[in-house]
Amino acid sequence: MDMSQPIGPTPLDAKPDGLVGRGIDRIEGRLKVTGAAPYAYETRELRNPAYGMVVEAGIAKGRIRAIDVAAARRAPGVIHVMTHENAPRQGQKKEQVGPVLKGPEILHFGQPIAFVVAETFEQARAAAALVKVDYERAEGAFDLRAAMPSAIVPKQVASPPDSSLGDFDAAFATAPVKLDVEYTTPVQTHAMMEPHATIAGWEGDRVTLYTANQMLNRGQVSLASVLDLPVENVRLVSKYIGGGFGAKLQPQADAVFAALAARVIGRPVKVALTRQQEFHGSTRRTDTIQRVRLGSDAAGRLSAIAHESWSDTTTGDEFYETSANVTRSLYAAPNRLTRHRLAHLNLPLSSAMRAPGEAVGQLAFECAMDELAETLGLDPIELRVRNEPEEDPEKKVPFSTRQLVPCMREGARRFGWDKRGAPGATRDGPWLVGLGMSAAARLNPLQPSSASLRLEGDGTLTVRMAMTDIGTGTYTILAQIAGEMLGLPVERIRIELGDTLYPKAAGSGGSWGAGSAGSALYVACDALRRQLAERAGLDPAAASFAEGRISAGGRSLTLADLAGDGIDVTGEIKPGDLNKKYSQYSYGAHFAEVGVDVDTGEVRLRRMLGVFTGGRILNAKTARSQAIGGMIFGVGAALTEEVVIDGRFGTFVNHDLAEYHVPVHADIPAIDAIFLPELDDKANPLKSKGLGELGICGAGAAVANAVHNATGHRIRDYPLTLDKVL
Ligand code: MOS
Repeated sequence: MDMSQPIGPTPLDAKPDGLVGRGIDRIEGRLKVTGAAPYAYETRELRNPAYGMVVEAGIAKGRIRAIDVAAARRAPGVIHVMTHENAPRQGQKKEQVGPVLKGPEILHFGQPIAFVVAETFEQARAAAALVKVDYERAEGAFDLRAAMPSAIVPKQVASPPDSSLGDFDAAFATAPVKLDVEYTTPVQTHAMMEPHATIAGWEGDRVTLYTANQMLNRGQVSLASVLDLPVENVRLVSKYIGGGFGAKLQPQADAVFAALAARVIGRPVKVALTRQQEFHGSTRRTDTIQRVRLGSDAAGRLSAIAHESWSDTTTGDEFYETSANVTRSLYAAPNRLTRHRLAHLNLPLSSAMRAPGEAVGQLAFECAMDELAETLGLDPIELRVRNEPEEDPEKKVPFSTRQLVPCMREGARRFGWDKRGAPGATRDGPWLVGLGMSAAARLNPLQPSSASLRLEGDGTLTVRMAMTDIGTGTYTILAQIAGEMLGLPVERIRIELGDTLYPKAAGSGGSWGAGSAGSALYVACDALRRQLAERAGLDPAAASFAEGRISAGGRSLTLADLAGDGIDVTGEIKPGDLNKKYSQYSYGAHFAEVGVDVDTGEVRLRRMLGVFTGGRILNAKTARSQAIGGMIFGVGAALTEEVVIDGRFGTFVNHDLAEYHVPVHADIPAIDAIFLPELDDKANPLKSKGLGELGICGAGAAVANAVHNATGHRIRDYPLTLDKVL
């Protein structure tokens, strides 16, 4: 089915207290905590693999004059050393996945320049250290601010890079109250626990990659292009994934190298990027410079909104951070302007990182709103309420659902927002205490997805799709959807994901995973319900499914009896035109309380609450975990996370998790997330909306606004480390 009209009543509506929504434990949880769930690097399907190690460039710009691999070749256990001088011929770049070792040119520090394959990991690593390179160095560009004048209008991706409505300049010039501020956010890294890893092996001209990847079907197409193979000759398998956050949306160098080298040596090759290589040799979140201008009347009604964002990526790539996209939908104002500009630097490739666009966009915009509220002497929630739009202010279409105001009101009530004092006025021993809030919004996309079902003769059900579970709970929510639709307990359902041999699925990205894959499964289950009713001679509209039985009009049969030798069905979901007729976002509101040490400037989060709406909640526990995980990500962005660029060499100074500070348990006190009831009948048949990235959106801004409330000082350069706070 496609989403071309709102979904009417469904079987899921009929049982609001059913299996869907219940906070059941992850069905694969035991496998994971007992170490029985094989991650890419641990897969034993391909026997006797050799070990690969990537060698990275030691300069940020220039070329390789000579590369000497003689010592590496002679080192114990070495099977093969690949450089640009002997790399196999490769095909075309697709999306952000390109051929490796294309030539002697170096575009950024950490660019892979060689690949060493040996009998053991230690031998590969030791030999990699013996590769000697003679570089011809050139002057690199590493500074976004310096590159602003040369920044270009990026190519249109999903939406245009610029938008304007009315006459911003005129409206801003005459606005009684004006704000013109610039925020900066640093380079960040995905920092997922499991690094990129692949084991690749060939059978004839077919390659199988056990690899850590979020979107298998897109990865399959990209790798087929780079390896110059028909798509069907490339199989990706990714059953368990230790986090992605965008870093694994697309295959990285590990996958390309493993496939190339395995073919050369005629034996499977396994490789994982080291943690340090993750920083330089994988992708990153770009730094941004964002200018926000707001014009309003004295009562806080916005007449003019402008949000401009500059970001950067490696020379030759087109990825840009869509920081201002969400601003197009968030608040009413007749005169509007958004702009994105892209600079090309000699830094690693930028890519999507959790809530690309919104995450850093709201770090700037939601603080600017706080600043305007402060200027007006207005409560920040009240300012937002006064600018609540009736319809999408730029697309001029209705919102499918929008409960931003109820989220703010409910959060304020629960958090004790009325206790918020004036800036710098609340003291608790050595701590200055402050409260801050932010709105949260994240686009809700639907992606094409398909699923197959097999009802076995014993009444068990097997679900197959090339979907992934990156730690988010996909296995579990899919079992809940199938269980609810067919009246089966989750113990009788097998969910098989993570293999491109299964029906094509959306993968995990862009907050679309659960909605897209879950909807494909819903459609398949719906088809199976009709087939079963037909076999039973029952009216499909009247039939109910519970406890392994189908029942209607006083008759009841078991699914096992009806299954015979088994029944196979498939289901498919596609976006229709409803996503154009309605503005579709998930919404929320964050509330944070911080303490700022008066002597050291140290900021400690004291408590935090997120109130969200995301349509139907598929599993209360995994949804809450997603939201809290996102909020913690936001706390990191506000307070600690920053990749520091060495402006002399274009290197990342803090390229490990000892120096790049993601929040740890000690940083995160009482933190909670709740969901308000909602069904979105324009989104998908589940009436659910994306949650994976909603939690991070605005979370850091709430923390930064709390720091301002605590201290009376506004810091516009993230993260808010103590050197800036003091
Ligand atoms: Mo997300 S940045 O689409 O994994």
